[in-house]
Amino acid sequence: MDPDLAALRQEYELGGLAEADAPADPLTLFAAWFAEAEGGGVHEPNAMVLATASTTGQPAARAVLLKGLSAAGFVFYTNQESRKGSDLAVNPLCALTFPWFELQRQVRVEGTASVAPRSDAEAYFATRPRESQLGAWASRQSSVVSSRAALDASYADVEARFAGTDVPCPPHWGGYVVAPRVVEFWQGRRGRMHDRLVYRLTGSGWAMERLAP
Ligand SMILES: Cc1cc2nc3c(=O)[nH]c(=O)nc-3n(C[C@H](O)[C@H](O)[C@H](O)COP(=O)(O)O)c2cc1C
Repeated sequence: MDPDLAALRQEYELGGLAEADAPADPLTLFAAWFAEAEGGGVHEPNAMVLATASTTGQPAARAVLLKGLSAAGFVFYTNQESRKGSDLAVNPLCALTFPWFELQRQVRVEGTASVAPRSDAEAYFATRPRESQLGAWASRQSSVVSSRAALDASYADVEARFAGTDVPCPPHWGGYVVAPRVVEFWQGRRGRMHDRLVYRLTGSGWAMERLAP
């Protein structure tokens, strides 16, 4: 291979994560780390990698945007007829990874996705730029298109169809809430001796342990 990948190496020494700094609820720590990612120059801190798996067990991962966070979980919006939507319909178990490399951090979530209330999807859809709203109608996400020209023609069609009116939320478009069962916080340290604190949801609430790096 041309670039010398074996020589690419970064020493991690921006910080540490001690048990003493870990609150009882992982969402409290997530909120604090998210604020630091926002203030710390992370590009699109709300971009996260969503992994799903089909019934055959084939995993697929792609980036989506975190658009809400509450005690219920992590919210993102998408086309529910997409590859990820059809995976989640048969297997709601999924994982999220926030790759906050600029802070030498990553947060991993494992959990179960459920469809967000329709009213939330409609309220969020109404706040999107008109171009994105039209795109949601024009694109059958994850299906094969014959050409870029066919995609552009589909966009022009919906532009004409909704000319002069508000663009409603398509029936196939909506949100998912990922209810976390495992949340892991990873902070890079020198010599690959990283800090990993993992929270697991138990019958009596969240339990936290340290994992070897
Ligand atoms: C930074 C970034 C953010 C993205 N956010 C979303 C999103 O919020 N919702 C979405 O449906 N696709 C989003 N995408 C596109 C997805 O990664 C993906 O291409 C698309 O959802 C189709 O995925 P699927 O065929 O696996 O279902 C994003 C891509 C990038 C690179």
